[in-house]
Amino acid sequence: MTDEASESLSFTFPVIHGTMGPSVLDHRRLPQEAGLFTFDPGFGSTAACESKITFIDGEKGILLHRGYPIEQLALQTDYTETSYLLLYGELPNKEQYEVFSADMATQRLLHEQIRNFFNGFRRDAHPMPILCGTVAALSAFYSDGLNINDPTQRDRSARRLIAKVPTIAAWAYKYSRGEPFVYPDESLSFSENFLNMLFSRPGRHYKADPILARALDRIFILHADHEQNASTTAVRLVGSTGANPFACISAGIAALWGPAHGGANEAVLNMFDHIGSKEGIPAFLAKVKDKQSGIRLMGFGHRVYRNFDPRAKLMRSTYYEVIETLNIKRDPFFDLAMELEKIATEDEYFVHRKLYPNVDFYSGLILKALGIPTSMFTALFAVARTAGWVSQWLEMMADPMTRIARPRQLYMGEKPRDVIPMAKRV
Ligand code: ACO
Repeated sequence: MTDEASESLSFTFPVIHGTMGPSVLDHRRLPQEAGLFTFDPGFGSTAACESKITFIDGEKGILLHRGYPIEQLALQTDYTETSYLLLYGELPNKEQYEVFSADMATQRLLHEQIRNFFNGFRRDAHPMPILCGTVAALSAFYSDGLNINDPTQRDRSARRLIAKVPTIAAWAYKYSRGEPFVYPDESLSFSENFLNMLFSRPGRHYKADPILARALDRIFILHADHEQNASTTAVRLVGSTGANPFACISAGIAALWGPAHGGANEAVLNMFDHIGSKEGIPAFLAKVKDKQSGIRLMGFGHRVYRNFDPRAKLMRSTYYEVIETLNIKRDPFFDLAMELEKIATEDEYFVHRKLYPNVDFYSGLILKALGIPTSMFTALFAVARTAGWVSQWLEMMADPMTRIARPRQLYMGEKPRDVIPMAKRV
């Protein structure tokens, strides 16, 4: 847009204050009162809903779920408790926790016919299309949760999604390896069961190391929700049309797939592979700084956190716990990762732009250390984020202010013109 095409106008609109964070200018009546829309590509200045679930202060590096700091949730709760908190607004007491986790454990099983879906995919299919397609297909199996106007059915579908998405993700992995599917085990915790579905196989007894199961659980907690990010916005946008919850979560999975969002920790590991060793760092950074190259340092920077990502700090200490437990200090990526991390705090390019390691920088390293293949990273993120997506969807469905999402545009195309017969077109 050129300066000639823009002009300044002034109007008065009410300001609405939330409990914390920036207040918002309520310009809902702008089109009626001024004949104008606002222009905000990427919605960076637009609050599209009210929410009570997650609060982020990007400058101060604060992340709260239902008011609780992420640091406390990561260290003092498990993923099932955090899911309950996101869904219902309060941490469960002992009895509520037992009832909820037992119910969630029984829901992990997939309808037996869903097994057939996997055969339709090539063996080398990435887990994300399998997850995306199969989650949407759940709507063809669980019809007693599809009435979106019934709060009981909505809750049923929300719980099913949190419980079943891990089974689909684990089976996508097993399918790619040509190994038999491992059925969920109700006696195991959320993360132990997930590891068991990934690594157990006939003839080999598998028991997850509690420290490693705890590390995975922490990754799940740290990724459980993150306010109105791209995938959550996709879930809400699709949900605003009245689509069923399985279709909405499938849309969230599709949005998460992109390398700028959920694909980042996979991209971090691919980047490490590409750099090769500590010695390759200077040449790679030269390319990152050259804007023409289009190459970014993956696992660095965040749209919202401008000083540090609080999840990254926790992931960093978890990474150290994991490598100590597994005694893999000689992992070639360890040196590479530490050197890149050092650069973040010293190199003018990154310091000036406030680019710090984000949660994905470390989560990929932990997952790799746990033996989880890179291709599964985004699927694991989807497993974790399902709790946030369904909680945001439930909140949206219960909100009387919800309207079908319909952004406007600034049209810059041709003015009206007449079709010229083909014979006369140049
Ligand atoms: N590497 C190199 N330069 C970067 C990076 C990066 N990772 N991130 C931002 N920059 C630069 C930009 O080129 C820009 O430079 P300029 O001012 O000279 O033009 C400046 O920093 C500001 O960048 P923006 O594009 O405005 O930052 P934005 O908020 O739009 O992007 C994003 C955020 C997409 C996360 C970006 O930092 C990025 O691509 N990071 C790498 C991918 C990644 O790790 N994503 C995970 C995010 S966390 C999550 O989804 C859980």
